[in-house]
Amino acid sequence: MALKGPRRPVRRGIPAQRRRWILWLSFLSLFSFAYVSLFQPHFSFLALHYAWIDKGASINEIEATNLWSKDFLRRTPFSRPPRPNSRKHHVPCKIDFVSSVDSLIEPESYINFTRFSLNYITRDQYSYNNNSINVPLFGGHQTLEEREHSYHARNQMLHCGFVKGDTGSYDSGFELDGKDKKIMANCTVVVSSCIFGNSDFLRRPTKHKMGTYTKMNVCFMMFMDALTLDKLSSEGNIPDKNGKIGLWRVILVKSLPYTDMRKTGKVPKFLSHRLFPSARYSIWFDSKMRLDTDPMLIIEYFLWRKGAEYAISRHYDRSCVWDEVLQNKKLNKYNHTLIDEQFNFYQSDGLVRFNQSDPNIPLPSFVPEGSFIVRAHTPISNLFSCLWFNEVNRFTSRDQLSFAYTFLKLRRLNPDKPFHFNMFMDCERRAVAKLFHHRTQP
Ligand SMILES: *[C@@H]1O[C@H](CO)[C@@H](O)[C@H](O)[C@H]1NC(C)=O
Ligand SMILES: *[C@@H]1O[C@H](CO)[C@@H](O)[C@H](O)[C@H]1NC(C)=O
Ligand SMILES: *[C@@H]1O[C@H](CO)[C@@H](O)[C@H](O)[C@H]1NC(C)=O
Ligand SMILES: *[C@@H]1O[C@H](CO)[C@@H](O)[C@H](O)[C@H]1NC(C)=O
Ligand SMILES: *[C@@H]1O[C@H](CO)[C@@H](O)[C@H](O)[C@H]1NC(C)=O
Repeated sequence: MALKGPRRPVRRGIPAQRRRWILWLSFLSLFSFAYVSLFQPHFSFLALHYAWIDKGASINEIEATNLWSKDFLRRTPFSRPPRPNSRKHHVPCKIDFVSSVDSLIEPESYINFTRFSLNYITRDQYSYNNNSINVPLFGGHQTLEEREHSYHARNQMLHCGFVKGDTGSYDSGFELDGKDKKIMANCTVVVSSCIFGNSDFLRRPTKHKMGTYTKMNVCFMMFMDALTLDKLSSEGNIPDKNGKIGLWRVILVKSLPYTDMRKTGKVPKFLSHRLFPSARYSIWFDSKMRLDTDPMLIIEYFLWRKGAEYAISRHYDRSCVWDEVLQNKKLNKYNHTLIDEQFNFYQSDGLVRFNQSDPNIPLPSFVPEGSFIVRAHTPISNLFSCLWFNEVNRFTSRDQLSFAYTFLKLRRLNPDKPFHFNMFMDCERRAVAKLFHHRTQP
């Protein structure tokens, strides 16, 4: 279905007397508007100042090559967000964002993050022949033993997508244009989303809500396949000579790594630290949302202010994976046999039901609403992203099923390595963007 603009009302002549009244009224309102803007400068918002914001280095000064080289001195304790509102109606909540982006400066030491270095496997050690099952796979051929090792937060080499065949002659997918890659390599703050398989409309971030800093410095990247680009173009959304549609830069993805479009969508969703190697922060949101908030305000609120390096929203309804599995089957979201396989595997490796009365519960919910994720690209945050991606790659594309298992296993195996996690309320997610339904397939 194509979107149609509102129909214009038919103009009719207006009697002279009424015309004079309208003129008077417009003059009056114009005059009062001018008065307010000229003589009431206190209307302009004063920026809030936080002790740790003032001291920090400007985000402009960040060196791309040395992402997290600065010494972070202070540790801000992880604060758990308040309990969700029990109201069933899903309404956005009021968020006290900093009122001006211009005075916002990255805090130098907002978290004491866990330090180690990750390297990624780019060539699989298997030899390929066209008739065996050992063909190159985007996620690589990770053994269960390698998988177990990968959960340790320490210097390591692990699978994290983008694995190619060892001869280099096979391509496992998600190929990007060289020019796009260069631009992507320069991004320090990224907002990204994707549409594959023509599954949605293009929703442009609300431009007037974006500050000057953001317009100049933040990369807005929309990944899509040729099918989607053709469809959007035919509807009038044609990229300009810089490859942009509004704030979005369209990044065309060739040779999709999975036949399941939802799985392909998990590549930009989870692997922003691989796609944008110099980025310190990234925000992901689903194409069904239209961003209404400046990304720098989002980073300040969800990460800096909360002392978090990874922020994701809770599901609005469910907090137990058992319920999520039932719901997935009820709505036929995925092959039931494959859901059971994954779920049984997780139960045999320690996944338990969510128990709200457990005082030591490590998360406020075991089910995320993953359509909005805010990340600092710190080592343990990147590791979590890789681990979660590997679960989706190994099992089903239903990432709500693997979230808690991945998080809890990572915590269990690294009890002394802090991971500053902010699982915020669904109403906070609703406050930063407007929600739509996905494009319905004909
Ligand atoms: C930062 O974390 C490390 C390792 O967890 C710890 O040894 C160190 O004392 C922490 N530093 C501060 C300032 O909290
Ligand atoms: C793989 O083998 C099939 C025939 O079994 C052949 O048609 C195809 O070209 C081969 N692919 C490559 C990449 O060599
Ligand atoms: C990347 O950044 C550098 C330094 O700011 C600049 O010289 C270069 O043109 C940028 N490259 C691209 C592709 O934007
Ligand atoms: C579900 O997956 C199993 C195992 O791969 C397969 O045997 C079965 O045919 C699939 N079921 C459906 C309905 O696609
Ligand atoms: C939930 O946790 C509480 C407190 O630790 C415990 O008493 C209770 O038995 C637990 N419930 C279940 C079903 O495990």
